[in-house]
Order: sequence, then C-alpha cells, then structure tokens
Amino acid sequence: MTTHWSDTGFSERFFAAIDAAGLDKAALTIDTLAPGDHIHAMGFVATKALAQAIEVPSHGRILDIGAGLGGPARYLAQRFQCQVSGIDITPEWVSVAQQLNVLTGFDDRVDFSVGDGSALPYKDQQFDAVVCQHVTMNIANRQQLFHEVFRVLKPGGCLVMSEQGLGINGQPRFPVPWSTDGTHSFLLTPSETEGVLVANGFRIAWIEQSAEQDLSGYTRFLAQIQAGTLPPFGSHIALGDAVLEKIQNAADNIRNQHIMPFLLLAHRP
Ligand SMILES: C[S@@+](CC[C@H](N)C(=O)[O-])C[C@H]1O[C@@H](n2cnc3c(N)ncnc32)[C@H](O)[C@@H]1O
Repeated sequence: MTTHWSDTGFSERFFAAIDAAGLDKAALTIDTLAPGDHIHAMGFVATKALAQAIEVPSHGRILDIGAGLGGPARYLAQRFQCQVSGIDITPEWVSVAQQLNVLTGFDDRVDFSVGDGSALPYKDQQFDAVVCQHVTMNIANRQQLFHEVFRVLKPGGCLVMSEQGLGINGQPRFPVPWSTDGTHSFLLTPSETEGVLVANGFRIAWIEQSAEQDLSGYTRFLAQIQAGTLPPFGSHIALGDAVLEKIQNAADNIRNQHIMPFLLLAHRP
C-alpha cells in the first residue's frame, strides 16, 4: 500500500529528530510530542479546538480516520478518558504511532491499524464519534468514505472533521503538504462535501470556514523555515522534501481562494 505520505526511513528520521531535540524517549508525553505528531495546519492547537465539538459518553469509543502519527488520538483518549482507535493507510506512520503509544503508555487505550478510511474494518455502530483531520483531500471516493463512517457510527454519534476544501478559483498550485503534483489530491468544495454527507444520511450541525486559522499556522511555519529557526523536532519531519514550497503554496492557495479550509460537525440521526 503506497500513499503520498509513504517514505522509506521515516521512522529512523522521526526518532533521530526526537533525539536531536534532547527529548528523553523514556519520558515522552502528549505535550512534548505535540510539535511533531499533529500533522495539520495549526497542529495541536487545532486538534484541541476541534475536540471541543466532540460528544462522547464515559466509556465511549472514538475512531480517528487518517490518524497519522497518533498525536490527536492520544490526546482524545486522555481528554475524554475513553478508547480510541486510529486507522491510517500509511504503514510507516502507523508503525511510528504504535511505537509512540508504547513509549507514552497509551497502548492500553489507543490502538492503530493500517487500513483505508473508505473500507473500514469495524462492525456496524461501534463508535460514538469519528474524527478526521486533514485527510479527506487524499481520499478519492468520498461517497464510500462517508458511507463507511455512517455505518460504524452509533445512532446519535458525531463526525467531526477538518478538510482542505476546493476554493472558488479552482485547483491549487502544487506541491502542497498532501500532494506533490496533484496525484492523491481529491478536493471537493465545502458544499459538495456537505452534499455527499447528506446523501449518506448525515445531518449537518454546522460547517465553518477556517481559512484564517490555517493561514496563520502556515504563515508562522513559513517564517520559521525562512529564518532557519525550525526546531529539530516538528511537523516538518513528516512533510518530506520541498517543505518551503509546500507551505508557501498552502498559504498562497488559501489567499488566492484555490483552497477553502473548513471545519464540520455532522450527526448520524
Ligand atoms: C495530513 S496527515 C493528517 C494526520 C492526522 N489526522 C493528524 O491530524 O495529525 C494525512 C493522513 O491521512 C492518511 N490517509 C490518506 N489517505 C488515507 C486513506 N484512504 N485512509 C486512511 N488514511 C489515509 C495519511 O496516511 C496521513 O497519515
């Protein structure tokens, strides 16, 4: 299984960056890992903000689709004191997520599997909430993805997501963090996403644009790259080559309305 995010030697580079930052692997925490294991615009701040929309009963279960390196899943498990399952299509990242789980002592509450969000390996109505942060732009078949999310949610359960929507001026300039040349990039406008969700039975609670929030994250990131002040350990480790160009384009695409980032809360009635 290969994706845009597959990268041979990623695990070695990631743990070497942890060492370079002077972090003690035996004492890693959600907070010390946060600069490098929340891979979306605004990082940990955005994960915390999105989590405010999640409703989970005690002893509930959350599914994180496109869980990446697992920072969001571990945070949600801690915040809601519940079980979290993460699924991600990139085996190298799932391997790192699992290692970080053990190192942080979260392996009893959080599990990670390799798999495709549009073919979920879970039984019907297992989860109280599904989270999906900056993932859908890599998934071609949104109809199948949202069909699967609806299927695994309990009635009354919620889907909380952040997405890089297609803006009013059409396709963005590449490379961007989720695609080098347009391959693996499947953007929908916010209203198209809403339409696919509703067609799959979801009720939209709210949808709001997050352009300013994402832009401020990218602008700060860019300033660090240009000033040569990126820390040894940070989300740039996960972005591979051409980080400057990817972040510059990500910011310009928002400014020029090729990308319309948004947040959304929907429920399975
Ligand atoms: C920008 S990263 C976001 C990671 C994580 N959600 C976070 O916020 O830290 C996108 C993630 O989506 C995953 N992904 C892409 N396509 C996927 C698919 N079809 N099914 C599951 N995961 C997918 C990638 O492997 C990558 O880990």
